[in-house]
Amino acid sequence: MSNIREVSRAAGVSIATVSRALSNPEKVSEAALKKVYAAIEKVGYRPNMMARNFRAVRAYSIVVLVPNLSNLFFATVIRGIEDAAQQKGYSVLLGDTRDSTAREEEYIRLVETRQADGILQLRPHTPGKSLEPKVAIPMVSACGCENTPYPSVRIDNTGAAREIVDYLIDQGHRRIGVLSGLVDNPHAVDRLRGYKEALAAAGIPFDPDLQINGDFTLGSGLMAASHFARMKDRPTAIFSMNDEMAIGCLQGLKSAGIKVPEEMSVTGFDDIEFARYSDPPLTTVAQPAEELGRVGFQTLLELIEGKELGNTETVLPYEFVVRKSTPPLKG
Ligand code: RIB
Repeated sequence: MSNIREVSRAAGVSIATVSRALSNPEKVSEAALKKVYAAIEKVGYRPNMMARNFRAVRAYSIVVLVPNLSNLFFATVIRGIEDAAQQKGYSVLLGDTRDSTAREEEYIRLVETRQADGILQLRPHTPGKSLEPKVAIPMVSACGCENTPYPSVRIDNTGAAREIVDYLIDQGHRRIGVLSGLVDNPHAVDRLRGYKEALAAAGIPFDPDLQINGDFTLGSGLMAASHFARMKDRPTAIFSMNDEMAIGCLQGLKSAGIKVPEEMSVTGFDDIEFARYSDPPLTTVAQPAEELGRVGFQTLLELIEGKELGNTETVLPYEFVVRKSTPPLKG
């Protein structure tokens, strides 16, 4: 089992410096802190030991890493986090990381220097792209995915996508387009799997021409719409992997002269506030966004308080919401 002496040896600094880095990081130079934290990771210094130190010096604030602050889904998750955090006397620092690991690392420094006690990550864990968990940093994924190497809270993205595509098939559709989010995002991967599973169960072959890749934004939905509109053998329905892209797509189809829902059905994912006010109102999957935030914070607090959670995951239920964008297919 590793100890503080091994950390000091691996870091090339004195034991006193290691000890100071753990209890009063503000009194240690940035260069030495970096060496100490790297050594802690290298020798695998015991997490509960770290947790004890974290308990001793509490900042009563956490950092929330948000991949896209303009997406209303995340605003609702943050509301849930804020509510739960306030009740426990914690403040919330927002890190608008714009899907950049380098930006995420900047915010992690706030925890390393004890200006915050832990991290709530809202970007699902992508192996090779996302930050790997560090022994010394309490971190929870609040919009997680399967196989997250630290505690996570999530919904069943594959099951929800399968359910919405099953519904489109029940409405009579066989040519169903899919508007994907960023293709290496685990949520997009899982939702695509659900789409393919629903098609396969109905005996409909997957047609790669019906897949357009966006990036979860309104703009990419708008672009995708013009692509779908130009197709010779157009789909009669589109499954969009989030509401923002679906709303952009509605706008684009309208500009291309395609009537929704008469000529094409469109579905979303998230149930952001605008989904019920779009024209037509959007059939979608309602993610329990506030609850994801609340449970995410509660899980993080357990870690900050020294509980060892490994990579436990909490899977919350979603709801399927039918609105006017998906009537039965005519003829
Ligand atoms: O990050 C983009 C999407 O992933 C959000 O709209 C939400 O669906 C999340 O799960």
